Amino acid sequence: MRTLITNIKQLHQTENLASQSNGQGRTRVSGKDMATLPFIEDAWLLIENGLIHSFGRMARFVDTQADDTIDATGRMVLPAWVDSHTHLVFAAPRDGEFVDRIKGLSYEEIARRGGGILNSAGKLNEMDESELYDQSLARLYKVMGQGTGAIEIKSGYGLCLEGELKMLRVIRRLRENVPIPIKASFLGAHAYPVAYKQNKEGYVNLIINEILPRVAEEGLADYMDAFCEEGFFGIPETERLLEAGWKYGLKPKIHANQLHYSGGVQVGVMHNALSVDHLECIGDDEIDVLKGSNTMPVLLPGAAFFLGIKYQPARRMIDAGLPVCLATDYNPGSCPSGNVPLLLSIACTQLKMTPEEAVNAVTINGAAALELEHEVGTIKTGKRANLIITNKIPSLAHIPYDYGNNPVWKMMVGGLMI
Ligand code: NIG
Ligand code: FE
Repeated sequence: MRTLITNIKQLHQTENLASQSNGQGRTRVSGKDMATLPFIEDAWLLIENGLIHSFGRMARFVDTQADDTIDATGRMVLPAWVDSHTHLVFAAPRDGEFVDRIKGLSYEEIARRGGGILNSAGKLNEMDESELYDQSLARLYKVMGQGTGAIEIKSGYGLCLEGELKMLRVIRRLRENVPIPIKASFLGAHAYPVAYKQNKEGYVNLIINEILPRVAEEGLADYMDAFCEEGFFGIPETERLLEAGWKYGLKPKIHANQLHYSGGVQVGVMHNALSVDHLECIGDDEIDVLKGSNTMPVLLPGAAFFLGIKYQPARRMIDAGLPVCLATDYNPGSCPSGNVPLLLSIACTQLKMTPEEAVNAVTINGAAALELEHEVGTIKTGKRANLIITNKIPSLAHIPYDYGNNPVWKMMVGGLMI
């Protein structure tokens, strides 16, 4: 099956031919390189059997046999977004807490009163697996319609053996039934369940000795996560959890430095985390530690927006030479939206990232944060044809500029329209 897209106004995030022919290519972009998004003006792209076959300029186009041809006059084509941090499997919204926060309660106060993550855990443990799957599937297709073509999903609303396994089995079913790459992270250490309020060590022991071995035995997770934060999991607990995860080959991807300078970034880097995520509270020490590592800093400004807390210092991080990744954090508490175009608008207006930096952050760097750099994230021969064809727009900047609106005209997954 061959599909040809012609007359593309701009084909973005292309790998150059030299890097393709020597089998290499960019796997992440950092610092000032983030300002450049390579593109081809007036381009064509050929898809064969779900993969990118070839691409180039219309001026040098040689007529090619295809089963299907799409005329993209006036439209941009980009690699689909890679959303590397979500909690998309959940049972119910938390709009009551949203109103409580408007009236003055903080996210932490709500959590201390037994709401927040514990509220979601109560609802999730009451819901049967098939209902949870149906709801999650609908959410996944909704964000795919907004351009998401690879995603990570966490557990963390079970907080007990059965609940965590239920969530991870739902993620596995999504992976089996939805044709985009999906990675799963085990986040048993998201909050302390009520029964362990006075026995925090007991809950960490339960995760390490009972839940994690089952998760690993059933092959349900790719990564190990923990909410490293004051009032949640401290440094010693996080270290124990990450070491335990590594014993089963689960690389860490952790929640760090959201509400305080918690030491989470340092712990993540020390334990070779694939990424440290959130990063509202970042200073020179954290930036220095990240600079000496391969750990990807993942910023979640949608959560800072929705909680009304300070934004991540993306400019300082990029200016210091770091790579920056953006992800939605889609969850019912701190960011009930998996809308990447809206995330790009927040990143540009509030974090002062340029549109090119923001798109790099959610394509090539998103792929790196999920070890999908050889499958998605750039336009390269042999990568999956998970592509966005935009509406007719005047410029790349129009995507974050036109905030709240969906720039996607057609979403392609494996070369097929969804
Ligand atoms: O990334 N901060 C911890 N976990 C989620 C929120 C989870 C929730 O409130 O349900 C986050 O923001
Ligand atoms: Fe999160």
